[in-house]
Amino acid sequence: MKRVKIVDLVKEPKYIGQEVNVKGWVRTKRGSKYVAFISMNDGSSVYNLQIVADKSKIDEELLKKITTGACLSVDGKLVESQGKGQTVEVQADAIEIYGTADPDTYPLQKKEHTFEFLREVAHLRPRTNTFGAVFRIRHNMAYAIHKYFHDKGFVYFHTPLITASDAEGAGQMFQVTTLDVANPPRTEEGAVDYSQDFFGQETNLTVSGQLEGELAAMGLGEIYTFGPTFRAEDSNTPRHLAEFWMIEPEMAFYDNNDNMDLAEDFVKYLIHWALTECADDVQFLNDTYDDTLIERLQFVDNQRFARITYTEGVEVLEQAIKDGVKFEFPVYWGCDLAAEHERYLVEKHYKKPVMVTDYPKEIKAFYMKQNEDGKTVRGMDVLFPRIGEIMGGSEREADLDKLTKRCEEVGIPLEAMNWYLDTRRFGACPHSGFGLGFERLVLFVTGMSNIRDVIPFPRTPKNANF
Ligand code: 4AD
Ligand code: MG
Repeated sequence: MKRVKIVDLVKEPKYIGQEVNVKGWVRTKRGSKYVAFISMNDGSSVYNLQIVADKSKIDEELLKKITTGACLSVDGKLVESQGKGQTVEVQADAIEIYGTADPDTYPLQKKEHTFEFLREVAHLRPRTNTFGAVFRIRHNMAYAIHKYFHDKGFVYFHTPLITASDAEGAGQMFQVTTLDVANPPRTEEGAVDYSQDFFGQETNLTVSGQLEGELAAMGLGEIYTFGPTFRAEDSNTPRHLAEFWMIEPEMAFYDNNDNMDLAEDFVKYLIHWALTECADDVQFLNDTYDDTLIERLQFVDNQRFARITYTEGVEVLEQAIKDGVKFEFPVYWGCDLAAEHERYLVEKHYKKPVMVTDYPKEIKAFYMKQNEDGKTVRGMDVLFPRIGEIMGGSEREADLDKLTKRCEEVGIPLEAMNWYLDTRRFGACPHSGFGLGFERLVLFVTGMSNIRDVIPFPRTPKNANF
């Protein structure tokens, strides 16, 4: 008999009255003397399917072996359900057990588990309805990102994961080496001799695909990258991962306003996609954890984002302090905005997503276009409720002299950057781009509160399990 996925059995009336085969994992089993009710899920949706196993038809010894977590193949007839909580159910004619799950040792039981506990059994959490919903939404976001850019004529460009450069200049990199770290070869001066390393030089995992993305935009026009990035920043927060995915569009002939227009349109498209294409999963998360989730997504979908300069943002925060608001970190012109400041601007003051531009050059990366005032750069951060910074980008400095000078000021070795500087030597043009943190997006659209719960196997300080 042909297997039908549970989502189709639940959604498509044509199966009612038909003999079907379903396969999946047992969520719960309860029963009476004569009949067992088995709730099954196959990952195709949040819907569990009820299997009614009449003991006159199904062997009692076999039924006993069916416990939470077991994997089954069931043949039976799909009928409209008499019971509460489901619309259809399968009256089993035959059940095959693919794999049992010993109830004494199977970690996922009927009771509610905490997210902390589920992180410890991350290899099993795709079997919960919550993580099923989160990972289906994550998949949908990835698909929608490719669709959005493909429909706009952007080229998906693959940038390297192993690199010799530090794109963000923040020095938070994981080194890649085949040298014996306990006993590395040394130069005459006593330094580690990287000429003997696999690549003949010092290399690390990339923190961003942007610099290589810019090379591509200077020929293909509009490109985007979408891949893993790695940051060895010791930030043990609910919004930081050491390995996260980033989407980085880079566009020739865009100034920073074009860049902001694209960023706003892009993220709204993705939120709209979640609301329409992942409606069941979003509804489930809304009903289970956070009944303001859908409202929040619709609100962002329908709002024009506020656009302010960094200087205006600092003024708002300084006024807030005068009005008695307490922040942990100080506010002054030149300070980096902390998450609490970003969230105040978004949640308390503007009450909508905020795009902040024209930051002091000292707190932003070397490649951002310098403003005429000599103090600020044409960067932009997009701040979201509950998340803080979800996207960051800028117009790029296209002037070779200014860029070279900035590299020198912040100590970036020019020889190593020659390939990047070539884009400013040959056929330079105004161009812009930004980076969207994929997990921060998934965090926002699922309403989950910890970034560790929106990536299958999180990498964070002191944790690389699975
Ligand atoms: O602001 P960031 O550091 O910008 C860049 O890397 C630029 N090269 C982007 C560009 O202009 N092409 O990072 C971009 C985004 C942030 O806004 C945030 O959403 C996310 O990446 N991000 C992180 N997400 C999870 N864990 C971390 N440790 C993150 N660091 C940044
Ligand atoms: Mg940033």
